[in-house]
Amino acid sequence: MNHTSIDDHHLISQVLPRHVAIIMDGNGRWAKRKGLPRIAGHKKGVEVARKIIIKSCELGIPYLSLFAFSKENWQRPREEVETLLALLVEYLNKELPLMMEKEIRFKVIGDKEDFPEVLRKKIDEVEKLTSNNNKMTLVLALSYSGRAEILRAIKKILEKLKEKALKPEEITEESLRNFFYFPELPDPDLLIRTSGELRISNFFLYQIAYTEFYFSEMLWPDFTEEEYLKALKSYQQRERRFGRVYEF
Ligand code: IPE
Ligand code: IPE
Ligand code: MG
Repeated sequence: MNHTSIDDHHLISQVLPRHVAIIMDGNGRWAKRKGLPRIAGHKKGVEVARKIIIKSCELGIPYLSLFAFSKENWQRPREEVETLLALLVEYLNKELPLMMEKEIRFKVIGDKEDFPEVLRKKIDEVEKLTSNNNKMTLVLALSYSGRAEILRAIKKILEKLKEKALKPEEITEESLRNFFYFPELPDPDLLIRTSGELRISNFFLYQIAYTEFYFSEMLWPDFTEEEYLKALKSYQQRERRFGRVYEF
């Protein structure tokens, strides 16, 4: 089944990002503006994420990563954290059939050990069941922190050095990635943040050296496919130079 429109065809005819990363921000403010509890914003946010996942898959974007819960988010009120975790379990239960249907491979980056056992088990189960799907890889950043990822890599490297399983000269900008949560994940080509905030909030740090940014004023629960296409078009109009000079 194909749901692509003329607009989509125009997009697909040009170079699409291989990896789109999204900081889905603004759920709380969306709810507050509507006089609802913050969790109502998270619930709406899950629906929006579903739409964007499907759209990305249809467009043929190979990797989509969504920042769903940061290490720092543990500091939020207990009730909000607990409801978010419950939402995640519900999400994984509900969306497994969609992932199978759309051939989406699911992968979590972040400290899974931080989560209660039910969630950890669910994550492992969905990762395993979807591991052979190869239309798109959906990466969910959970209890993720860019700094923690780098620190964890350093510690793993030190272990290897101690065991003499690695030589210092073997540590390169590329081999360092082997110690990240998901070594095969390419650097994001495009990073989108919603809600008008102009910061990274500890999402990918090492990986964004040459990433293109798109900041949207929309709160995540209001984010639309149209706005997503706008971000992708904006990306397609940029000249990525990687420090070089292109003569003409
Ligand atoms: C993003 O929305 C979702 C999570 C961080 C879990 P927020 O909950 O940060 O919403 P705002 O930024 O307070 O509006
Ligand atoms: C970043 O949003 C984390 C996620 C979207 C999951 P935050 O709302 O936690 O970031 P700050 O606190 O505004 O920087
Ligand atoms: Mg926020």
